[in-house]
Amino acid sequence: MKAVRINKYGGPEVMKIEDVERPVPAPDEVLVEVYASGVNPVDAAIRQGENESLRSFLKLPMTLGWDAAGIVTQTGSEVTSLKTGDQVYGVPNFPGDGSYAEYCVGKASQFAIKPQSLDFRQAAGVPLAALTAWTGIFGHGDLKPGERILIQGASGGVGSFAVQFAKAKGAYVIGMASTNNIGYVKELGADEVIDYKTQQFTELLHDLDVVLEASPIRDNSERVKAVSILKEGGTFVSVNTDLPFNDEMMEAAELRKIKVALAANEPRQEWLTQIAELIDAGKVQVLIDQVFPLEEVAEAQRQIATWHVRGRLVLNIKE
Ligand SMILES: NC(=O)c1ccc[n+]([C@@H]2O[C@H](COP(=O)([O-])OP(=O)(O)OC[C@H]3O[C@@H](n4cnc5c(N)ncnc54)[C@H](OP(=O)(O)O)[C@@H]3O)[C@@H](O)[C@H]2O)c1
Repeated sequence: MKAVRINKYGGPEVMKIEDVERPVPAPDEVLVEVYASGVNPVDAAIRQGENESLRSFLKLPMTLGWDAAGIVTQTGSEVTSLKTGDQVYGVPNFPGDGSYAEYCVGKASQFAIKPQSLDFRQAAGVPLAALTAWTGIFGHGDLKPGERILIQGASGGVGSFAVQFAKAKGAYVIGMASTNNIGYVKELGADEVIDYKTQQFTELLHDLDVVLEASPIRDNSERVKAVSILKEGGTFVSVNTDLPFNDEMMEAAELRKIKVALAANEPRQEWLTQIAELIDAGKVQVLIDQVFPLEEVAEAQRQIATWHVRGRLVLNIKE
């Protein structure tokens, strides 16, 4: 089968389309014929070898991509939740061999039936970003109806799902984005949008219940500012798990009894199913910015590494 592999870390040029053996599912895994794969910033970070916290888990050569939509073609002996022929989406096998390939394997629990209202290309743009948002705001943030949440990076892959999930939950949603994306984040359903280019969120907000850091900013002093706008007992969640909280941040949080969490996306079947239900109910929209053929994977990764793509980037693998 064809797969986009790296044999060493480096720029987009280290990615090669190679012929490799089709993987075989373990007892708790499914083999999925991949129709489309989402492209995420972490793909480029892993290719570049720049993510220190992941490096010890990586084994070269490897197939990139952890966002798949396709059809189950084989199930492991212990799998009962999915069957051959199911149209699924999920986050397979992070950070092992992934979904930039004609086939991938992953635990059955990392997949669910894809939203029926989406085709494979649209569905491939959902799992990783959406699960990260879900893990952050519900898994760690425990967001409840009526609560007020600030979502930093609201126009991004993770942030755009977070805005819509929080809104669907009945929360009051404040998004933060750059000037060009204010209208877009409002269209996603945010009640208010702060322009981080021209406005200081610390001067505008106070007594929030939850802050979700879903921007690519990796700066603990920004986190301290975010803590200052939470009410006592509120929650600060960052999806930037590669930047631990420093002493200054922990002291600021403890002083005001703020709960803090680093949220690594958890690919859970029941969450993927709930996300699919929200999409099929029309409560969550999926915007695809561009679909690339596998041969143009380098261009897709160049774009995702800019941190300013609006909508999802997807590799089309099978028509
Ligand atoms: N924990 C996990 O499992 C996990 C999974 C996926 C992603 N992540 C992390 O989540 C973050 C977002 O990922 P993503 O896939 O959503 O990326 P993305 O689609 O590139 O979105 C990033 C967003 O951040 C905003 N942004 C860019 N530069 C900024 C700046 N200087 N100040 C404030 N905001 C800025 C951009 O908004 P504007 O264009 O409006 O500026 C953009 O919409 C990244 O740090 C990524 O590493 C974590």
